[in-house]
Amino acid sequence: MLDFITKKILVPQEEIETIVSRLAEEINRDYEGKKLVIVCVLKGSIMFTADLSKKINVVNEMEFVRVSTYGNSTESSGEMKVLLDFDREDFTECDFLIVEDIIDSGNTLSRLVSNFKNRGAKSVKTCTLLDKPSRRKVEFEPDYVGKVIPDEFVFGYGLDLFEEYRGLPYVAVVSEEYLNSLK
Ligand code: PRP
Repeated sequence: MLDFITKKILVPQEEIETIVSRLAEEINRDYEGKKLVIVCVLKGSIMFTADLSKKINVVNEMEFVRVSTYGNSTESSGEMKVLLDFDREDFTECDFLIVEDIIDSGNTLSRLVSNFKNRGAKSVKTCTLLDKPSRRKVEFEPDYVGKVIPDEFVFGYGLDLFEEYRGLPYVAVVSEEYLNSLK
Protein backbone atom coordinates (compact mmCIF):
# COMPACT_ATOMS: atom_id res chain seq x y z
CA MET A 1 0.00 0.00 0.00
CA LEU A 2 2.75 2.44 0.94
CA ASP A 3 4.42 1.89 -2.45
CA PHE A 4 1.14 2.64 -4.21
CA ILE A 5 0.50 5.88 -2.37
CA THR A 6 4.07 7.15 -2.59
CA LYS A 7 5.17 9.12 -5.63
CA LYS A 8 8.59 9.92 -4.18
CA ILE A 9 10.36 10.69 -0.97
CA LEU A 10 10.64 14.46 -0.81
CA VAL A 11 12.61 14.89 2.42
CA PRO A 12 14.54 11.78 3.46
CA GLN A 13 15.31 11.03 7.12
CA GLU A 14 18.93 12.15 6.83
CA GLU A 15 17.89 15.50 5.37
CA ILE A 16 15.35 15.99 8.16
CA GLU A 17 18.12 15.37 10.69
CA THR A 18 20.36 17.93 8.99
CA ILE A 19 17.55 20.49 8.90
CA VAL A 20 16.66 19.89 12.56
CA SER A 21 20.29 20.35 13.60
CA ARG A 22 20.62 23.58 11.62
CA LEU A 23 17.41 25.05 13.02
CA ALA A 24 18.33 24.05 16.57
CA GLU A 25 21.70 25.78 16.17
CA GLU A 26 19.99 28.98 15.01
CA ILE A 27 17.50 28.82 17.88
CA ASN A 28 20.21 28.07 20.46
CA ARG A 29 22.18 31.08 19.22
CA ASP A 30 19.18 33.45 19.14
CA TYR A 31 17.86 32.47 22.57
CA GLU A 32 21.19 32.15 24.38
CA GLY A 33 20.74 33.04 28.05
CA LYS A 34 16.95 33.13 27.75
CA LYS A 35 14.26 30.68 28.69
CA LEU A 36 12.11 29.40 25.87
CA VAL A 37 8.58 28.05 25.84
CA ILE A 38 8.29 25.65 22.91
CA VAL A 39 4.72 25.35 21.65
CA CYS A 40 3.90 22.19 19.69
CA VAL A 41 0.93 22.57 17.36
CA LEU A 42 -0.78 19.18 17.40
CA LYS A 43 -1.06 16.87 15.72
CA GLY A 44 1.27 17.40 12.76
CA SER A 45 4.13 19.00 14.65
CA ILE A 46 4.63 16.15 17.12
CA MET A 47 7.64 14.50 15.39
CA PHE A 48 9.39 17.72 14.48
CA THR A 49 8.89 19.29 17.91
CA ALA A 50 10.17 16.15 19.62
CA ASP A 51 13.31 15.95 17.47
CA LEU A 52 13.98 19.69 17.53
CA SER A 53 13.59 19.92 21.30
CA LYS A 54 16.22 17.22 21.77
CA LYS A 55 18.75 19.56 20.17
CA ILE A 56 17.66 22.78 21.86
CA ASN A 57 20.05 23.44 24.70
CA VAL A 58 18.62 26.67 26.09
CA VAL A 59 16.39 26.24 29.13
CA ASN A 60 12.91 25.41 27.88
CA GLU A 61 9.44 24.29 28.74
CA MET A 62 6.90 22.70 26.39
CA GLU A 63 3.26 23.49 25.82
CA PHE A 64 0.76 21.99 23.39
CA VAL A 65 -2.06 23.48 21.38
CA ARG A 66 -4.46 22.07 18.85
CA VAL A 67 -6.45 24.25 16.52
CA SER A 68 -8.49 23.88 13.41
CA THR A 69 -8.78 26.55 10.80
CA TYR A 70 -11.36 26.63 8.14
CA GLY A 71 -12.37 29.21 5.60
CA ASN A 72 -13.29 29.19 1.98
CA SER A 73 -11.15 29.83 -1.04
CA THR A 74 -12.49 33.33 -1.56
CA GLU A 75 -11.95 34.41 2.02
CA SER A 76 -8.40 34.89 3.22
CA SER A 77 -9.07 35.02 6.95
CA GLY A 78 -10.01 31.45 7.91
CA GLU A 79 -11.64 31.17 11.31
CA MET A 80 -9.61 29.45 14.00
CA LYS A 81 -11.16 27.11 16.52
CA VAL A 82 -8.98 26.29 19.51
CA LEU A 83 -9.40 22.61 20.36
CA LEU A 84 -6.66 22.41 23.01
CA ASP A 85 -5.19 25.42 24.76
CA PHE A 86 -3.00 26.19 27.76
CA ASP A 87 -2.71 29.10 30.11
CA ARG A 88 0.00 30.11 32.52
CA GLU A 89 0.34 32.80 35.14
CA ASP A 90 3.63 34.00 33.65
CA PHE A 91 2.25 34.22 30.08
CA THR A 92 3.34 37.86 29.68
CA GLU A 93 6.91 36.99 30.70
CA CYS A 94 7.33 34.14 28.20
CA ASP A 95 9.33 33.95 25.00
CA PHE A 96 7.29 31.55 22.87
CA LEU A 97 8.49 29.54 19.90
CA ILE A 98 5.55 28.04 18.02
CA VAL A 99 6.61 24.93 16.11
CA GLU A 100 4.76 23.69 13.03
CA ASP A 101 5.25 20.86 10.57
CA ILE A 102 4.04 22.86 7.58
CA ILE A 103 2.73 26.28 6.57
CA ASP A 104 0.24 26.32 3.75
CA SER A 105 -2.31 29.19 3.60
CA GLY A 106 -0.65 30.78 6.65
CA ASN A 107 -3.98 30.95 8.47
CA THR A 108 -3.04 28.73 11.41
CA LEU A 109 0.20 30.45 12.34
CA SER A 110 -0.92 34.00 11.66
CA ARG A 111 -3.96 33.40 13.87
CA LEU A 112 -1.93 31.71 16.58
CA VAL A 113 0.68 34.44 16.65
CA SER A 114 -2.05 37.10 16.94
CA ASN A 115 -3.70 35.09 19.70
CA PHE A 116 -0.43 34.89 21.69
CA LYS A 117 0.33 38.57 21.16
CA ASN A 118 -3.19 39.58 22.21
CA ARG A 119 -2.69 37.61 25.40
CA GLY A 120 0.42 39.68 26.08
CA ALA A 121 3.23 37.26 25.28
CA LYS A 122 6.67 38.83 25.77
CA SER A 123 7.77 37.51 22.38
CA VAL A 124 6.46 35.06 19.79
CA LYS A 125 8.52 33.45 17.04
CA THR A 126 7.61 30.64 14.68
CA CYS A 127 9.49 27.66 13.30
CA THR A 128 8.30 25.35 10.56
CA LEU A 129 9.85 22.26 9.07
CA LEU A 130 8.18 22.77 5.69
CA ASP A 131 6.91 25.89 3.98
CA LYS A 132 4.69 26.15 0.90
CA PRO A 133 4.82 29.90 0.21
CA SER A 134 3.01 29.43 -3.11
CA ARG A 135 -0.16 28.49 -1.17
CA ARG A 136 -0.39 31.57 1.05
CA LYS A 137 -3.76 33.21 1.50
CA VAL A 138 -2.52 35.54 4.21
CA GLU A 139 0.84 37.22 4.38
CA PHE A 140 2.99 35.29 6.83
CA GLU A 141 6.76 34.90 7.20
CA PRO A 142 8.01 32.29 9.67
CA ASP A 143 11.18 33.09 11.64
CA TYR A 144 12.80 29.68 11.10
CA VAL A 145 12.20 27.57 7.99
CA GLY A 146 13.46 24.04 7.43
CA LYS A 147 12.69 23.62 3.74
CA VAL A 148 10.63 25.44 1.14
CA ILE A 149 8.66 22.93 -0.90
CA PRO A 150 6.48 23.09 -4.01
CA ASP A 151 2.71 22.75 -3.91
CA GLU A 152 2.48 18.97 -3.64
CA PHE A 153 0.39 16.77 -1.34
CA VAL A 154 2.90 15.55 1.25
CA PHE A 155 2.64 13.13 4.16
CA GLY A 156 4.83 11.46 6.78
CA TYR A 157 6.92 12.69 9.72
CA GLY A 158 3.86 14.05 11.51
CA LEU A 159 1.90 14.96 8.40
CA ASP A 160 -1.07 12.72 7.85
CA LEU A 161 -2.73 11.12 4.89
CA PHE A 162 -6.33 10.93 6.07
CA GLU A 163 -4.97 10.67 9.63
CA GLU A 164 -2.62 7.80 8.80
CA TYR A 165 1.14 7.57 8.20
CA ARG A 166 2.18 10.29 10.67
CA GLY A 167 4.84 7.96 12.04
CA LEU A 168 6.90 7.67 8.86
CA PRO A 169 10.48 8.90 9.42
CA TYR A 170 10.49 10.86 6.12
CA VAL A 171 8.22 13.22 4.16
CA ALA A 172 6.81 11.79 0.93
CA VAL A 173 4.65 13.01 -1.95
CA VAL A 174 1.32 11.27 -2.61
CA SER A 175 1.11 9.47 -5.96
CA GLU A 176 -1.25 10.51 -8.77
CA GLU A 177 -2.47 6.91 -8.95
CA TYR A 178 -3.58 7.00 -5.35
CA LEU A 179 -5.26 10.39 -5.71
CA ASN A 180 -7.04 9.20 -8.86
CA SER A 181 -8.22 6.08 -7.07
CA LEU A 182 -10.09 8.29 -4.59
CA LYS A 183 -12.20 9.89 -7.29
C1 PRP B 1 -1.85 21.37 9.19
C2 PRP B 1 -0.48 21.76 9.69
C3 PRP B 1 -0.68 23.18 10.13
C4 PRP B 1 -1.71 23.70 9.17
C5 PRP B 1 -1.06 24.51 8.10
O1 PRP B 1 -2.64 20.98 10.26
O2 PRP B 1 -0.07 20.93 10.76
O3 PRP B 1 -1.14 23.26 11.46
O4 PRP B 1 -2.36 22.58 8.59
O5 PRP B 1 -1.99 24.99 7.18
P1 PRP B 1 -2.35 26.53 7.01
O6 PRP B 1 -1.08 27.29 6.85
O7 PRP B 1 -3.18 26.53 5.75
O8 PRP B 1 -3.14 26.97 8.19
P2 PRP B 1 -4.03 20.23 10.11
O9 PRP B 1 -5.13 21.25 10.17
O10 PRP B 1 -3.99 19.35 8.91
O11 PRP B 1 -4.13 19.40 11.45
P3 PRP B 1 -3.13 18.26 12.02
O12 PRP B 1 -1.83 18.95 12.35
O13 PRP B 1 -3.84 17.77 13.23
O14 PRP B 1 -2.97 17.22 10.95
